[in-house]
Amino acid sequence: MALHVAVIGSGPAGIYTAEALVKQSAEPVQVDVLERLPTPYGLVRYGVAPDHTSIKSIANYLRKVLELPEVRFLGGVTLGAHVSVEDLLSAYDAVVYCTGAMVDRRLGIPGEDLPGSVAATDFVNWYCGHPDVDSGMFTLDSPEIAVIGVGNVAVDVVRVLAKTSEELKATDVPHDVLERLEESQVKAIHMVGRRGPEHAKFTLKELRELGELANADVCVRPEEAVVLGVDFPRQIQGNIKVLQSWAAREPVGRPRRLDVRFWMRPVEILGTERVEGLKLERTRLSEEGRVVGTGEFETLPVGMVLRSVGYQSVPLPGVPFSESTMTVPNEAGRVREREYVAGWLKRGPTGVIGTNKSDAAETVRTLLADLEGGERVPDGGIDALLASREVRPVTYEEWQGIETAESELAKSLGRGERVKLAGLEAMLRACRS
Ligand SMILES: Cc1cc2nc3c(=O)[nH]c(=O)nc-3n(C[C@H](O)[C@H](O)[C@H](O)COP(=O)(O)OP(=O)(O)OC[C@H]3O[C@@H](n4cnc5c(N)ncnc54)[C@H](O)[C@@H]3O)c2cc1C
Ligand SMILES: NC(=O)c1ccc[n+]([C@@H]2O[C@H](COP(=O)([O-])OP(=O)(O)OC[C@H]3O[C@@H](n4cnc5c(N)ncnc54)[C@H](OP(=O)(O)O)[C@@H]3O)[C@@H](O)[C@H]2O)c1
Repeated sequence: MALHVAVIGSGPAGIYTAEALVKQSAEPVQVDVLERLPTPYGLVRYGVAPDHTSIKSIANYLRKVLELPEVRFLGGVTLGAHVSVEDLLSAYDAVVYCTGAMVDRRLGIPGEDLPGSVAATDFVNWYCGHPDVDSGMFTLDSPEIAVIGVGNVAVDVVRVLAKTSEELKATDVPHDVLERLEESQVKAIHMVGRRGPEHAKFTLKELRELGELANADVCVRPEEAVVLGVDFPRQIQGNIKVLQSWAAREPVGRPRRLDVRFWMRPVEILGTERVEGLKLERTRLSEEGRVVGTGEFETLPVGMVLRSVGYQSVPLPGVPFSESTMTVPNEAGRVREREYVAGWLKRGPTGVIGTNKSDAAETVRTLLADLEGGERVPDGGIDALLASREVRPVTYEEWQGIETAESELAKSLGRGERVKLAGLEAMLRACRS
């Protein structure tokens, strides 16, 4: 009898787990990848920026895993809504949770919930066409916008805001999102870091891209680009050099302006009915290395604040969860008997797509060692269980129907290779037609 494993979530962690199971297992294995959306690839589809087409093409590798005879994709099946942990443990020999990190971290400052104060998770979902977010959700009618955080997600968000809709036309951005971007009133974008250039989380390649924007001048204040000390890793030295070169150049009058700020922390989002400003406080590091305020304040006249301060995982019903690390406690991927975890849910929301490959391989090594020579759960039975609950999973072939509809839409609009369909209904129509 084959080893039956359920992988929950079809982002990079889930798919690399399926691949590692097939590659590492000495005995025959069958893997079901259960995914709450009708579409696979997680953040590769709904996170990686639309203009980063070469990174998006990792999907071409991931698809080959889903096409293996030992692997089956079951879209539209949610752990916690359609199936429980108990259902899975009675249908499979083991379960691997790979549900990522779906929500934003909070700033915990006054005004955070005002209309116009937006989590980067929602904004990214919007321009990536995630079905959880309405494509009409955002109107970019403020001339000034602040983006809080200096990580790679903040850089993605800034780039999308700074580019023209013409520059994004060939991407897969949903068409009504592209129209909103075309109507954008944004003239100034402030990207705000609470520490110095040497502490910024963005990577050099991503930072450099901002300096190449055709539609925006990038500005850094010379006094904020000063860095004490020289003994930094190469990546950081590279960041500092780029930022200091921007501090030394004059704007050339491009239609938009990006101000990259350092040593400023948000203390209040101002406004009554909606965001009218962002109050910042200058910071320094305490002797213990903590960020502390200096009592010097500044207000940015922004109508929108995008909070890009990191993602976090949400607990899965019936699965252990640590509220302090916001991850599933595990030992080399083992959670409890026959339950495992991989990806962002295992180690937190950091690292690039490839990091999930070695991470998944570790979890699978643990799983296979634990289950070697053990008893097997007789007959899967998940199909009958889902049918009894009137849940009809989206198959891999049906997902390909969505892909076809997306490339037909792109053709009809005279855009690039594909254009994302807006909304769950449209996707389900495409896969069932
Ligand atoms: C905005 C953004 C841009 C990024 N860009 C890059 C980049 O350019 N290059 C790079 O190398 N890395 C990038 N990363 C990092 C990379 O995306 C992550 O390392 C990777 O996606 C994490 O993989 P994961 O499988 O753990 O999570 P995810 O990719 O989030 O996959 C989790 C999957 O689980 C599904 N799921 C959730 N809950 C359930 C449930 N209850 N039942 C069933 N399914 C469920 C979700 O729908 C999703 O498909 C980016 C991250 C973000 C946030
Ligand atoms: N192209 C790519 O390769 C790519 C693209 C996107 C994402 N990713 C990866 O995905 C992961 C997640 O990226 P991310 O940008 O969401 O997270 P991140 O790298 O952790 O960056 C979060 C940023 O938010 C700041 N921050 C946190 N709390 C704050 C607060 N209360 N007030 C002000 N600022 C605050 C952090 O500053 P402090 O450092 O001071 O805490 C940091 O600058 C990263 O590993 C990233 O590299 C990669």
